[in-house]
Amino acid sequence: MTVTYDFAGKTAIVTGGSRGIGRAVATQLVRSGADVWIWDADPTPNDETRSQTVDVTKAQDISNALGEVVASTGQIDILVNNAGYLGPYLGFEAFDPAEWQRIIGVNLVGTFEVTHQVLPVMRKTGRGRIVNMGSLAGKEGLPNLAAYSAASAGIIAFTKALSREVCDTDIRVNCVAPGPIDTNLIRRLGNEVVSEMIGASPLKRLGAAEEVAALVLWLCCDASSFNTGAVFDMSGGRARH
Ligand SMILES: NC(=O)c1ccc[n+]([C@@H]2O[C@H](COP(=O)([O-])OP(=O)(O)OC[C@H]3O[C@@H](n4cnc5c(N)ncnc54)[C@H](O)[C@@H]3O)[C@@H](O)[C@H]2O)c1
Repeated sequence: MTVTYDFAGKTAIVTGGSRGIGRAVATQLVRSGADVWIWDADPTPNDETRSQTVDVTKAQDISNALGEVVASTGQIDILVNNAGYLGPYLGFEAFDPAEWQRIIGVNLVGTFEVTHQVLPVMRKTGRGRIVNMGSLAGKEGLPNLAAYSAASAGIIAFTKALSREVCDTDIRVNCVAPGPIDTNLIRRLGNEVVSEMIGASPLKRLGAAEEVAALVLWLCCDASSFNTGAVFDMSGGRARH
């Protein structure tokens, strides 16, 4: 089933939009009329969107890309902080500290860096939608994903805090917390781990990137006006709270 939105005249930035969930979000936003800019560290050609090479951990990359977007459109209506890095599926004691720095850097600090630069542009119009991609791991704390779980919990708390700081505006800040979704990020873990994840799911399957995108689009639309600081489950029934 397809839900129709009208994002004509809206400018959207989707980080990590070259693959997986971000790509599905970008595609659905474009189909609904938005002007979509993808910020990805490893962009892929996409005829429907404008792609910029942005590592979300690098303030200068963000500043350069943002300058181009603002010069072209003058406004930013939608920010989807989706770029992410899972890291190895490994017990904490075996973890290389450089890896947990990277996991926290891309997922959590990257969300800070991008939001810190984009929010002032949104504030000028007093309206906008920010959707941060968290994870079931951030709600439950998943073994073998300790650093990723911690980063995701940080994204959830950041969403709640920021939503309250901007509640005097029409800027809404929400978080989506998916369980396992069928993208490279999960497939990289191998069939055995993926089968375990499917076994732990009440719906007994992985989610599709398009299903996550459908929720993100709802949170980006003007009608989603009374949701802010919320965390939306997308776990096929696995999340317990
Ligand atoms: N797939 C899942 O099961 C799942 C579950 C929960 C949450 N998530 C979250 O959803 C988001 C998207 O995940 P996905 O499954 O589509 O992953 P993916 O690996 O398919 O795509 C991630 C994209 O982010 C980009 N990226 C990585 N590091 C970056 C950086 N430093 N700067 C800019 N771009 C960068 C990659 O190039 C890639 O295009 C992530 O935040 C992830 O943590 C995914």
